[in-house]
Amino acid sequence: RIAGPCALVIFGVTGDLARKKLMPAVYDLANRGLLPPGFALVGFARRDWAAEDFGQVVHDAVKQHSRTPFREEVWERLAEGIRFVQGSFDDDAAFVELTKTLTALDEERGTGGNHAFYLAIPPAAFPTVCEQLSKSGLAQPVEDQWRRVVIEKPFGHDLESAKELNAVVNTVFPEDSVFRIDHYLGKETVQNILALRFANQLFDPIWNAHYVDHVQITMAEDIGLGGRAGYYDGIGAARDVIQNHLLQLLAFTAMEEPVSFEPSELQSEKIKVLSATRLAEPLDETTARGQYAGGWQGGQQVVGLLDEEGFSKNSTTETFAAITLEVDTRRWAGVPFYLRTGKRLGRRVTEIAVVFKRAPHLPFDRTMTEELGQNALVIRVQPDEGVTMRFGSKVPGSSMEVRDVNMDFSYGQAFTESSPEAYERLILDVLLGEPSLFPVDAEVELSWKILDPVLEHWAESGKPEPYEAGTWGPASAQEMLRRTGREWRRP
Ligand code: BG6
Repeated sequence: RIAGPCALVIFGVTGDLARKKLMPAVYDLANRGLLPPGFALVGFARRDWAAEDFGQVVHDAVKQHSRTPFREEVWERLAEGIRFVQGSFDDDAAFVELTKTLTALDEERGTGGNHAFYLAIPPAAFPTVCEQLSKSGLAQPVEDQWRRVVIEKPFGHDLESAKELNAVVNTVFPEDSVFRIDHYLGKETVQNILALRFANQLFDPIWNAHYVDHVQITMAEDIGLGGRAGYYDGIGAARDVIQNHLLQLLAFTAMEEPVSFEPSELQSEKIKVLSATRLAEPLDETTARGQYAGGWQGGQQVVGLLDEEGFSKNSTTETFAAITLEVDTRRWAGVPFYLRTGKRLGRRVTEIAVVFKRAPHLPFDRTMTEELGQNALVIRVQPDEGVTMRFGSKVPGSSMEVRDVNMDFSYGQAFTESSPEAYERLILDVLLGEPSLFPVDAEVELSWKILDPVLEHWAESGKPEPYEAGTWGPASAQEMLRRTGREWRRP
């Protein structure tokens, strides 16, 4: 579907996100013919840029980061609708200017009074911008126009602050015009969890506590945090990605089948499963946190977090976090969900591994099954997108030896269609007013409710355990699983 007439206003247009993801995604949408002919892109920032300077910034960002090939005619058409408004968030005059710019665009480009406001700014600035949009009348559509607000995480830093934030945003924008970005939901492989589970008969009969031993959700990154201290110090791995991305992955994996893919049906199933999810205890044994020290990565020597620019020398910010969750439903009672994430780990990989119980009986000589592990279904979210099934197979030869093998589905081999970048899909959905892939206020609050106890626990328990860069995290994370007779996978 192609978006109807509209303008997209980006606040925080000088930031990394706008440059690396948002502007390139807008261009890619234009290139794929998914934006309306009169589309307009308005940048808002404090920096003293002329409209041409901003045009150049978008041009460079597009050339450097967009997915689709650069085509002069597409760029020129897009560039005609690019505007820039200079001002700070508390400057009333700047919002008057923004209103003028948008009104003029309605005339010149036919954007029809339909405006999406993308807040790619620190959450502390959300209330001011929302208030300004309300005061200047920009938040209120007339007749059949629409106004939407897009907010980036973090949605608060605990349950209480998330509630406050939601309340502030909702006083200006009704919930159905609020689009909270969790870019993991824009990934093809994440949406495919729903297809895998609900379009097939093969998996559902075994997708429960009778057959599943445990689930491991891993989001590992090899990058460090150089240059990101301003955002990350004091936030840490659990708030950065477990509260949002990993809990959304859990919700997709564990929820019941929605009645339909109507947004409200999907949301209500996610809300149900998140309401049933809680941390396993005691937290000392069921969670782990770490902070990367120096080490070697990809043949290069890298520094530890405390030596990264901008981090305080006694920072207790965790760069690795692992938790154990229980989902108190008939389907999942007794099945632990292990979630882990970290920076400067062995390699970049995100996957969901559903690990099955062992066969109740093995009619083989014990020495013949030494290389037989537990069956697993692994959803490879990235980078090598696909699904793997792992099971035992007879080793060719005269004895009945059994060994684990993999059966693979790979996007690259199965499809000729290319996957849109997550932000591309999500920005298009905002412009179309399609809310399925955006967590609602209740999901955000439930996620904080799940996480709050461990955040409080860690706040009182001193420093995170150091781990060497390039490894798979602190020893306590290994110990956390070993205690239950299990091991983390080595993706
Ligand atoms: C962001 C986090 O939400 O996701 C980053 O703030 C993280 O810390 C990033 O690096 C990872 O995204 P992706 O799509 O590369 O897995």
